[in-house]
Amino acid sequence: ELNGADSNGSHGALDVVMEGLRRLEYRGYDSAGVAVLTETGIQSRKKSGKLTNLVAELDSSPLPASLTGIGHTRWATHGGPTDQNAHPHLADDGRLALIHNGIIENFAELKAELLEQGVVFASDTDTEVAAALLGSIYRRRTDAGTADALTSAMQEACQRLEGAFTLLAIHQDAPDVVVAARRNSPLVVGLGDGENFLGSDVSGFIDFTRRAVELGQDQVVTITPEDVTITDFYGAPATGKEFHVSWDAAAAEKGGYPSFMAKEINDQPDAVGQTLLGRTDAKGNLVLDELRIDESILRSVDKIVVLACGTSAYAGQVAKYAIEHWCRIPTEIELSHEFRYRDPIVNEKTLVVAISQSGETMDTLMAVRYAREQGAKVVAICNTNGSTIPRESDAVLYTHAGPEIAVASTKAFLAQITATYLLGLYLAQLRGNKFRDEIADVLADLSEMPAKIQEVLDNSDPVKELGRSMADAKSVLFLGRHVGFPVAMEGALKLKELAYIHAEGFAAGELKHGPIALIEEGQPVVVVLPSPRGRDSLHAKVVSNIQEIRARGAVTIVIAEEGDESVAAFSEHVIHVPQTATLLAPLLTTVPLQIFACELAAAKGYDVDQPRNLAKSVTVE
Ligand code: F6R
Repeated sequence: ELNGADSNGSHGALDVVMEGLRRLEYRGYDSAGVAVLTETGIQSRKKSGKLTNLVAELDSSPLPASLTGIGHTRWATHGGPTDQNAHPHLADDGRLALIHNGIIENFAELKAELLEQGVVFASDTDTEVAAALLGSIYRRRTDAGTADALTSAMQEACQRLEGAFTLLAIHQDAPDVVVAARRNSPLVVGLGDGENFLGSDVSGFIDFTRRAVELGQDQVVTITPEDVTITDFYGAPATGKEFHVSWDAAAAEKGGYPSFMAKEINDQPDAVGQTLLGRTDAKGNLVLDELRIDESILRSVDKIVVLACGTSAYAGQVAKYAIEHWCRIPTEIELSHEFRYRDPIVNEKTLVVAISQSGETMDTLMAVRYAREQGAKVVAICNTNGSTIPRESDAVLYTHAGPEIAVASTKAFLAQITATYLLGLYLAQLRGNKFRDEIADVLADLSEMPAKIQEVLDNSDPVKELGRSMADAKSVLFLGRHVGFPVAMEGALKLKELAYIHAEGFAAGELKHGPIALIEEGQPVVVVLPSPRGRDSLHAKVVSNIQEIRARGAVTIVIAEEGDESVAAFSEHVIHVPQTATLLAPLLTTVPLQIFACELAAAKGYDVDQPRNLAKSVTVE
């Protein structure tokens, strides 16, 4: 998260920046840094670990008073959480400081170019490359030294950068100026009286102003104490949308949402988008550089075993359907704690995929150790950089959902599913099997998912209403088939965890083998209906299931694809989600179930962020 301030004297920049970082730190950061413009040039302090480490550093080595400054709290994605990798990064002989959120996809190419120019790098980060690029462009410009030069250099730099980024920079030559830019990554401007602010979100400056400006895509913004100037990446004037922040400092950390969970549900388009980012090359091939397992070993794998617990295991079950379909490799999903103790068959030809949001779940860690002892290669899918499971695995594919604070997993789940799709497609690409042609289509479909998830969120009022109206339910059943089956179980788990009511997910086909006995008058049943466009006749079969349970008194809530009106006439509630390929549907159908559970539990007055008896990382077996 990043934060910047520019003032004519009413507030010192360092205090403003540090207060903003404190407000943003709830997201669990692992390093922090600040830079201020002083009369003698730029001075900066940065420290790995929590913000308190930076505070201690500033106590022992104070910075002089300043009116212009920037600060950053980092949550490491690429490059470990060290002092050196912390932001700001300096360039132009220490005359320029820059902070960054996001991932610069073409950083390797830019770095090679800059190394050739003689630039020396002190860190492993893509951010330092952006700083060096900006510094090099600035120096080359004929207007270097003028107050506008930093803005023009930033515009030029942005034209070269690919990926997602928010950048904030200050330069010794421009004492009253902070220049920022954004693409695919958040940035808002705060308008003060004789002072202006920049932040990843408004909580960065909520203590100082509630007047804010939302920026558009691909914009550069320059703030001084008096002015805010917005352009596009080519210097053409642009405008932002001013808005008033209606919530106060207390709600700031949740981004104005009533709970972290609600915020994280709304973060999901980003969680999926960021997880997809930077993982294809210009030709549309998947490149999973982090997957440092020899390609010949990956080609010779004859079995995949996915290991995980809880919600992560449901992501694993979706993975099984997808990986087997695309790769034609037998794939099993097993709960880590069951796997470890039953003498399973794993050997050098087994690829184990360990899915864990926290990277600290003891059950999964033990299973990983066991699998490696048997000779299997282990790929971790993990959301927490530097955690134990990735450290003890052969390779890791990070999900970039950002820190998940609410105990019940939401955005990490969608990011995990996304990562397993990437892994499956990558293995299919590597093995060159007959589904190769499908890869490009799936990748194209995947790239549309963030917008489609947003659509689900934008249309979620009826689900919220439904959740609230069912606060008195004693039990809710969930049915699904194919990839809708793990979604049904995830919907049930969310409701158990948050609302403390009995909930259970079933494979719809299993209904007549027993669970249908549970159906009585008024029993709510949530049904995840497969697409009518699917290859098989699953849609018709689940429609029949709906008829069967309705006939026995069930109240049905059906999650159906847009345009599917087949059950409208005989289902109490139909929630539509956008159309997509069958295997990708969990990224959409899960969302209403999360919202349903969250609203129902909140209506019962429960704390959805910290449900009773649960912990975010389960570090005991
Ligand atoms: C449910 C939930 C848990 C976790 C499980 C595994 O909302 O959060 O079921 O999914 O404890 O945790 P990780 O993914 O950290 O290994």
